[in-house]
Amino acid sequence: MDLRSDLRLFREFWQLILAVIIITTGASAFLTWRETPQYDSEVTMFVSASGAPDDAAAAYQGSLLSQQRVASYSELVRRQHVLDGVIERLELNLTPEQLASKVTTSVVADTSLLTATVRDASPELAQRIANGIGAEFVELVPELESVGEEEQAPVKVTVVSPAALPSSPVSPRPTRNLVLGGVLGVLLGTGLAAARRTLDTTIKTEERLEEISGAPVLGTVMFDARASARPVVDPASYSARAEAYRKICANLHFINVDRSRQVIMVTSPLPLEGKSTTACNLAVSLAEAEKRVILVGADLRRPSAAGYLGLPGGVGLTSVLLGDASLSQATQYWRDQLFAVLPSGPIPPNPNAMLASQRLSVVLQELRHEYDIVIMDSSPVIPVADAATLAESCDGALVVVRHGKTRRENLRSAVQTLQHAGTPVLGAVLNMAPRQRRSPYYEAYHAETEDDVRADHERTPPPITATH
Ligand SMILES: Nc1ncnc2c1ncn2[C@@H]1O[C@H](COP(=O)(O)OP(=O)(O)O)[C@@H](O)[C@H]1O
Ligand SMILES: [Mg+2]
Repeated sequence: MDLRSDLRLFREFWQLILAVIIITTGASAFLTWRETPQYDSEVTMFVSASGAPDDAAAAYQGSLLSQQRVASYSELVRRQHVLDGVIERLELNLTPEQLASKVTTSVVADTSLLTATVRDASPELAQRIANGIGAEFVELVPELESVGEEEQAPVKVTVVSPAALPSSPVSPRPTRNLVLGGVLGVLLGTGLAAARRTLDTTIKTEERLEEISGAPVLGTVMFDARASARPVVDPASYSARAEAYRKICANLHFINVDRSRQVIMVTSPLPLEGKSTTACNLAVSLAEAEKRVILVGADLRRPSAAGYLGLPGGVGLTSVLLGDASLSQATQYWRDQLFAVLPSGPIPPNPNAMLASQRLSVVLQELRHEYDIVIMDSSPVIPVADAATLAESCDGALVVVRHGKTRRENLRSAVQTLQHAGTPVLGAVLNMAPRQRRSPYYEAYHAETEDDVRADHERTPPPITATH
């Protein structure tokens, strides 16, 4: 992983990483708070040769002897014999093992200094035990070292620095624990984020979309929070979304140069990926390019295209298929006849049978004569067979994919279904892509401010609801 991809990981999953950091730091704070404070008290003893040395050689011998001894004394302190003595001396209510677990010893390198450290929850007890060890040891060593009754032991131990009462605990250490908790959180959070990214099978790039759909990507439409309130962009708008639909429209023109594909369905693997929004906006852009366009609401289960365009959907495709209305009666127009709209009409009990009917082919034949391009706002491919049935009557399909939501396996399966129906996938659209930081150049060319949005609103005349 390079630095750039690391930064992207942080940007993409910062909430997850932050949550993990908060959890680990919180857990560390809780454990620190629960931990009983421990105090260390230390006694330092000096091991020396006893008796005054006669000359320098004897003094040297003595110092060698005490240095040799000090190493074994450091072991001796924690042995039962010494500990029993300490327990008895201080009348402690402890077993030698319990006492041993509180004591550590060390030798100051190249000296005859021996240190015993006692750790306990009570600073007073730590001090008492440490001093007890000192006193016990001072008495015990001559006993151990004496060769005979009357002869003096060759070494003696003196306490050079008695144990003091510890004023602050050695553990817990809140700052260190919190820093460790935080560092652990960063590592764990980043690991989780990396795992999530590896396991994430949603489509997020145009390259991946092209690879799986096997069709060119006609464009990417950014996520626009205003889309639910205003699904259809104004024809005069220069917003990023309007520009994106114009680009898709231009690219569609490129892949359909000979205009052999006249009836194009807009579909996607699952609901709520942006089929209807894309179909409506595509109709606007195509009509802007001075084409005779009709948008047909062909999702007979969840019709939304007419609603997005602000047109009533009471009469439409199903009315025509049932013979309740003629095509011209059911067709409406959007904004000064910019383009025609055939809403879905009343929801039928048997949508699939209606889309499979011979009557649909007849209706489409009529539309082919009257319009340059017929955009079918279709149902999703995976949950119901409607889209596959409709595909048989269409010349090609545009597949909409929702960024970070549509899964690769679902897109693969949807494309296969369309291919089985004999309908080529002409192109794909990546919808609801997150906004990226843009260059000032981009900002200068795309009206995105609140003022521009207001201006857009003001230019928007009320929808025309005329029925012919
Ligand atoms: N580019 C976009 N940015 C933000 N929201 C979008 C965008 N495209 C579609 N939406 C929203 O997603 C929801 C589903 O869109 P729709 O076109 O009805 O999906 P479908 O027809 O696939 O079920 C709608 O609320 C719509 O406003
Ligand atoms: Mg829809």
